[in-house]
Amino acid sequence: MAVASKESVRAFRGRKSRKKLMCSVGSPHLLEGKVALITGGARGLGECIAKLFCKHGAMVVLADIRDEQGVAVQDAIGAQFATYVHCDVTKETDVENAVNIAISKYHKLDIIVNNAALIDDAKPSILDNDVAEFERVLRVNITGPFLGIKHAARVMIPAKKGSIVNVGSVCSSIGGVATHAYTSSKHGLVGLTKNAAAELGNFVIRVNCLSPYFIANNVTGKEFFKFDDEGSSNVYSNLKGVHLLEEDVAQAALYLASDESKYISGHNLVVDGGFTVINPMFGLFSQS
Ligand SMILES: NC(=O)c1ccc[n+]([C@@H]2O[C@H](COP(=O)([O-])OP(=O)(O)OC[C@H]3O[C@@H](n4cnc5c(N)ncnc54)[C@H](O)[C@@H]3O)[C@@H](O)[C@H]2O)c1
Repeated sequence: MAVASKESVRAFRGRKSRKKLMCSVGSPHLLEGKVALITGGARGLGECIAKLFCKHGAMVVLADIRDEQGVAVQDAIGAQFATYVHCDVTKETDVENAVNIAISKYHKLDIIVNNAALIDDAKPSILDNDVAEFERVLRVNITGPFLGIKHAARVMIPAKKGSIVNVGSVCSSIGGVATHAYTSSKHGLVGLTKNAAAELGNFVIRVNCLSPYFIANNVTGKEFFKFDDEGSSNVYSNLKGVHLLEEDVAQAALYLASDESKYISGHNLVVDGGFTVINPMFGLFSQS
């Protein structure tokens, strides 16, 4: 019997592992057969995430209050892969219904992306902030994800699997970027993520937060900061000359939603080019 030399065994193993590596890295369908519910899927980042998920083989339910835009996104993707449902994330019956639609149409729910959010108008002083406005933002940005997690968990627990992605912001970890209400809600979302991850890990359900910096090609961010295209491209970036796009954030959502991140839970994945961990004003590499 011929005995394989150590070199030929090593070469064979190398070929095998390279093939394995190529299969996982080169796979175009990271969400093949999965079902995802995306709140705020009628435009902006939610729309972008929905389209990327579908490209990767998922079926998506788009839950939003912008019916015309939601139906347009559904039709653009194709009604066999996407379903729009009117859903105000602050209303429990609406969220319950959106999850039920995912089950009745696609028979399961593997992923929820709690992306819907709003921001109140910028006010220079807390004295001008209105309590009703503060509470309105918290209802959408934190009660909404709470209801999304609750009703997704209702169907994920019996299945003993699932991935929950809550969309935060750099305002989830630092102050001074946006309004008091928005910053409070996005900080709260990280706490909710950790607590839900602690409970739902028992059922192999992962819960993570995804926290983008200013997205240069997103309308809402531009409107809030009153930027035109030039203003958006002049926003400070620690990665000189590189700006964050919706597509970059959608790629991170894809990673957290897919089995590629199977051992990541309770994490806040910050997509900010280093913005929240660097003080550009003072220090060895100061840019001032
Ligand atoms: N744009 C940015 O620069 C930026 C930066 C960091 C984080 N984010 C976060 O990204 C996410 C997406 O934001 P976007 O910038 O795409 O905003 P967007 O305004 O374009 O999209 C938000 C969507 O949420 C929907 N929505 C609002 N209230 C709702 C409700 N009660 N029920 C259901 N849907 C509702 C809106 O109709 C809209 O379609 C948000 O969580 C936001 O906080 C955005």
